Amino acid sequence: MSSSSSAPSVLFVCLGNICRSPLAEAALRAQAQRAGLAVTVDSAGTGHWHVGEPPDPRAQDTALRHGVDISGYRARQVGGDDFHRFSHIFALDHDNLKNLRRLRPDNAAAELALLLDCVPELQGQAVADPYYGGEEGFERSWHQVERAAQALVERLRT
Ligand code: 4NP
Repeated sequence: MSSSSSAPSVLFVCLGNICRSPLAEAALRAQAQRAGLAVTVDSAGTGHWHVGEPPDPRAQDTALRHGVDISGYRARQVGGDDFHRFSHIFALDHDNLKNLRRLRPDNAAAELALLLDCVPELQGQAVADPYYGGEEGFERSWHQVERAAQALVERLRT
């Protein structure tokens, strides 16, 4: 895969890669499939603590409630090579965007942006970290990433 190939490729990045970015990955995969859009989708974390682990059980339950099984996903840490492998990299919040800007190689072609900036009414907002809260936070995250996935499908199909 290369960022110059014609099919877009999207990487979602949060902190642990066990809550928000797997939900974003699931939402875009599902919507792209429904829309018949060819896109490579993946997710990663800026942190290393959960590498190799499946998504948080609350994230798995939330995705399943919305029709997507994410039990097979495994957390990984983002690296500099991701800026060459993906055409678009979206951070789920501002801290992760800041860390990704530091990690970005000078010659990287990938677009790097805050995820909710692709939804006009949600511009500048973060997908809040649901890790330390209850199930309702995961549901809120799902609705946010669903709106972003919708906007991305519209954008990438044109
Ligand atoms: P995520 O949530 O970044 O949405 O995957 C978190 C998962 C784990 C931790 C923090 C946030 N943690 O501190 O272990």
